[in-house]
Amino acid sequence: MGEFVSSTEANMGIAVSSDGTATVTSVSAAEGFEYEPSQDDPYRYMQGFGNRFASEAIPGSLPECGRNVPQRSPFDLYSEQLNGTSFISSRQSQLHVWMYRVRPSVAHRPLAPMLRNDDVQACFSPMNHSVQYTPLTYTWGPLDIPPADTGTVTFVSGLKTMGGHGDPTNKEGIAIHMYAANTNMTDEAFCNNDGDFLIIPNEGRLDIQTELGNIWVKPGEIAVVQAGIRWRVSLPDGFARGYIQEVYGTHYELPDLGPLGSNGMALPRDFKTPVASFNIDDSKWKVVIKLAGKFYSYEQAWTPFDVVSWHGNYAPYKYDLSKFISFNTTLKEQIDPTAHTVLMARSKIPGVSLTEFAAFLPKWQTSTNTFRPPYYHRNMATEIGGLIYGKYGGSSRQQVAGGLSFENSYMPHGETYDTWIKATTDSLENVLVGTESLGFMLHISSHLSITTFAMERHNCIRPQQVELWDNVQACFYDHIPAINAILLQKGLKPMSVPAQSGLRK
Ligand SMILES: [Fe+2]
Repeated sequence: MGEFVSSTEANMGIAVSSDGTATVTSVSAAEGFEYEPSQDDPYRYMQGFGNRFASEAIPGSLPECGRNVPQRSPFDLYSEQLNGTSFISSRQSQLHVWMYRVRPSVAHRPLAPMLRNDDVQACFSPMNHSVQYTPLTYTWGPLDIPPADTGTVTFVSGLKTMGGHGDPTNKEGIAIHMYAANTNMTDEAFCNNDGDFLIIPNEGRLDIQTELGNIWVKPGEIAVVQAGIRWRVSLPDGFARGYIQEVYGTHYELPDLGPLGSNGMALPRDFKTPVASFNIDDSKWKVVIKLAGKFYSYEQAWTPFDVVSWHGNYAPYKYDLSKFISFNTTLKEQIDPTAHTVLMARSKIPGVSLTEFAAFLPKWQTSTNTFRPPYYHRNMATEIGGLIYGKYGGSSRQQVAGGLSFENSYMPHGETYDTWIKATTDSLENVLVGTESLGFMLHISSHLSITTFAMERHNCIRPQQVELWDNVQACFYDHIPAINAILLQKGLKPMSVPAQSGLRK
């Protein structure tokens, strides 16, 4: 699949000498790289992460350089800016976009509150009775796709909040949602004023129309749509389900590379931002707004997708997780799972991330004299695990594709005793793992609350495995006679031998 086209023309500088001989002195591209439509994706994209893009659906519809707000914009389009950061923020953190549209987005009928949806939460204070901070471990199966005969459920009406931390009104925090939908959003757009959505499809492709262009996302890809942008979701397969990580008061970034140098992990050129695209549509539309977890709506007599051209760096994008460059140790020891971080978002604490989104792709295990499964651990970070497809590679959770797992901060976890026995006695061959599955982990640097929906109303709450650790053995005891010999040799008091000694088979 050819994914981008290079220049089809070149500008050639021609020098002509006194004898009439022409010499080519320079060659420069006449076009930049763009990702072309393909069998897998009908849309066109611009290349790069965090670039300042400029895109015109109609040539000449952007104002000439040197001004964003001419007295009259080309073709009498309305100029409108959307800021994703404060006016006075550092230049490198500023995110904004200028849109040139058929009508300004302020032109709409009055807003009205919608019916309360208790399955969506945004305030994760312990004072909210719809959430609970708990040290319990949870595992959930996939959300059921709503059957068509039980009613229509769109991407937005099918949102279910599983947990979170903080509050969008404080511009600090995070929410984890699952979604399951059976119906296109038709003549209806969504605008999330609370935070940025990182969308991780599990089943069913998403055809996302945004004010800034169209994005096509399939399982194995992710998309980010920032706060304040209006968008809608159609379902090419008639259904869809997956995961969303929403961040408040911050935006997704690529992690720093540190000693890795200038390459590796998610390469900026593999991110795709849509080109400008607009509709001529003077039919009635409804726009749904989420603010502090509550839904409001207004109507307008034309499409909100009427942006003819735009420029800026606050725009949605997608990324194919198979493009990620995984790192691992080459001889010995383990590397932390954050080496697989695709995107992260910063918290307000300097140097501390709010969350890291890590994807687990195939990798060679080549380490020698190393315990290869994840080591037993307790982290400051809360861990949310998901499986996009395939079979879960761990042993201590009943994780299935489309499901989710939860370990709150500082809670211990690790592989089963049987896995420990195998990992500590196996001969270590080079082995390629993870070829049939795609999992992900959200490392969230805070306690995380779980919603009442997640604890009581989710259709598949998998019970904790009561006897999971009953067979774990203190193999250390087997060594007490040898240890006592050492102690006696050193003039120290020997240990007594517990009754469980010798249980290891
Ligand atoms: Fe962990």
